[in-house]
Amino acid sequence: QDQLRSAAQATLRANDRGGYAVPSPRLYPFQWNWDAAVNAVGWQTFDEPRAWQEIETLLTGQWANGLLPSIVFHRPADSYFPGPQEWGCDHLTPPTTSISQPPLLATMVRRMRDHSRDPQVDQRLRTIVPKIVDWHRWWYRDRDPEQTGLVVTYHPWETGSDNSPAWDEPLARVPATPRSYQRRDTGVVDGSMRPHKAEYDRFVYLLDFFRDCRFDPRRIYDECPLRIVDFALNAILLRANLDLAHLCEALGLHSDAAQLRDWHQRGAAAIATLWSPTLRRHVSLDTRSGKPLPSRTHAGFLAWYAHVFTGESGPQRQLDLLAELDEFLGATRHALASTHPTDPGYDPRRYWRGAVWPHINWLVAEGLAEHGHAAQAQRLRDDTLALVQAGGLFEYFAPDTGEGLGGPDFSWTAAITLILLQ
Ligand code: DGY
Repeated sequence: QDQLRSAAQATLRANDRGGYAVPSPRLYPFQWNWDAAVNAVGWQTFDEPRAWQEIETLLTGQWANGLLPSIVFHRPADSYFPGPQEWGCDHLTPPTTSISQPPLLATMVRRMRDHSRDPQVDQRLRTIVPKIVDWHRWWYRDRDPEQTGLVVTYHPWETGSDNSPAWDEPLARVPATPRSYQRRDTGVVDGSMRPHKAEYDRFVYLLDFFRDCRFDPRRIYDECPLRIVDFALNAILLRANLDLAHLCEALGLHSDAAQLRDWHQRGAAAIATLWSPTLRRHVSLDTRSGKPLPSRTHAGFLAWYAHVFTGESGPQRQLDLLAELDEFLGATRHALASTHPTDPGYDPRRYWRGAVWPHINWLVAEGLAEHGHAAQAQRLRDDTLALVQAGGLFEYFAPDTGEGLGGPDFSWTAAITLILLQ
């Protein structure tokens, strides 16, 4: 364990580019939004000032309208496509993408405050917290203009689970880009572990579309060919609303706290409508076709983490979801597969189509433990540590063989390892 802890610390240090850690040196050579949130918690286990710096550096990329972008391109690097020019955001300082990512930040910051050894921590938070509130306000203003309680997303990269089978159908309706471009990811890791070209053609179409709309939120909401309510992203946002409300209360920001609790309450009521009585789990929704997206993925297991099992149906739904979780735990040697092997889209090595992701295991385990499901939570934690111990600090792992896949020396895998070893 000491050896693993040292290796994880050394990985974060080696990926440090001065105030931010790159997720993996060549594959992802900038600062990513949800990675930074997890990395900060990892840093805090051995270097608290550096942990806060990770967050403060990420926030330098925030737009005036509150958007906290998925990538902040602090320094140029040519091993990644698409760069800031492609996004049409190279004029910004620092340059960024034009989309966001799952809003883990508030939850991670709350955890860091709870674990802090810095008596002045609330001083820092007086600058950090209002910025995160602005980001949540952005989600609800620009991504839920009809005030449904749930936010939409326009790009699979924004969900974080880029090539999940859940997006296959809505993505197929997006035109393929007519322009030529050169991918870099498949020059760094084997193409069999990455999304297909057909998916990239559509990823690129969408980022061009946002730029051509001049990032006008109303126009994008009305016209974007892909518009989905991702259950996982909404679950993460709902949980973050609660943690941010707690932080606001601690700082005396009472009207922000009330707003955040209201978003949580309305969101929890709305997300309950995504429950499928036949599949006995929540599903995402395609708001263009009005159809549910029923792929059998890990996403539904974030319901515990989101604290959305409220009302009379709560206890039965938890039992149903535990039964589904048992089926996932029994289906592969290493849990938690991001897609169940019986799903037609399953592919154990290809990124979000089956591979095990350490940070998802941790989030799901946190939610399970908070609801008293200690044995399942422990199984996920044990599997995660066993995978990194045997396979190395990789981006994701094959659920059947345990092989480490994707980017090597991966920062948030190191961070999760440090958290689990704490
Ligand atoms: C990528 O490039 O694969 C990233 O997931 C985008 O955020």
